[in-house]
Amino acid sequence: MSHSRKEKVHVRISKSFDDLSVLEDLEFSVNENEFLVIVGPTGCGKTTLAHIIGGLYQPTQGRVIMNGDVINPKQHNISFVFQEPSCIPWRTLWDDVKIGLEIKGASRKHIRTRVQEMINLVQLDGFESYFSHQISGGMKQRVAIARAYATNPDLLLMDEPFGHLDAQTRYLMQSEIIRIWEQLKKTVVFITNNIEEAVYLAERIIILSRIPARIKGIVPVKLPRPRDNISPEFLEIRSRVTEMCETAE
Ligand SMILES: Nc1ncnc2c1ncn2[C@@H]1O[C@H](COP(=O)(O)OP(=O)(O)OP(=O)(O)O)[C@@H](O)[C@H]1O
Ligand SMILES: [Mg+2]
Repeated sequence: MSHSRKEKVHVRISKSFDDLSVLEDLEFSVNENEFLVIVGPTGCGKTTLAHIIGGLYQPTQGRVIMNGDVINPKQHNISFVFQEPSCIPWRTLWDDVKIGLEIKGASRKHIRTRVQEMINLVQLDGFESYFSHQISGGMKQRVAIARAYATNPDLLLMDEPFGHLDAQTRYLMQSEIIRIWEQLKKTVVFITNNIEEAVYLAERIIILSRIPARIKGIVPVKLPRPRDNISPEFLEIRSRVTEMCETAE
């Protein structure tokens, strides 16, 4: 198969905070409907990069282009799933999922069908009237994913969304996020510091160095899905990526 995929986002940026250089000459593309994973050590600048890709921070140099225009969260439809659980305490799960649609001024009828669709998608039907203190950490991240997909975004940015989950729930959520992506085919940039997670999820992995982050390598992952994290092919890619990460300076 040699079809080349359409470039959706082009990133070419550097970022400093005062004297602290965080991201140095990063350049890469994100393709249409790709599941791209960015992996890097803790503190290397991943969240900063996510904010820049989403247009929430300005780069010090360079720019992010999406569909031919400089990225702009007011113009482009971008959704975030953050590292910290972000459910709103006084909203029910149903009301929480519909926030983005409300902000976009969707009709009540559309909101009703879309919210139910998304709740079904993340398999939380039956829990619509629960408040965030009544649901588990994994369920909260399901709410965040439902909320992110609800507005049918052009780009989904996920910044270590499973970082706080226990190992078992994390594995489950990894297979869930792939199931959802295979169903809806959206462009996803997923950030993690976990190499196994990167190899399980990614079509391509971008490996960042320690701060100031530079690109150490880009590794395509062509394993069939669902992936088996103890197959020799999986372990081979995993150790290749690990090596690149360890040589990071
Ligand atoms: N708004 C800011 N102002 C000043 N410095 C910042 C700001 N945001 C991040 N930094 C600095 O940039 C560096 C990278 O932070 P960032 O949160 O992007 O790293 P990260 O890779 O997401 O870390 P983690 O793996 O812990 O989530 C840190 O040294 C941090 O102190
Ligand atoms: Mg971070």
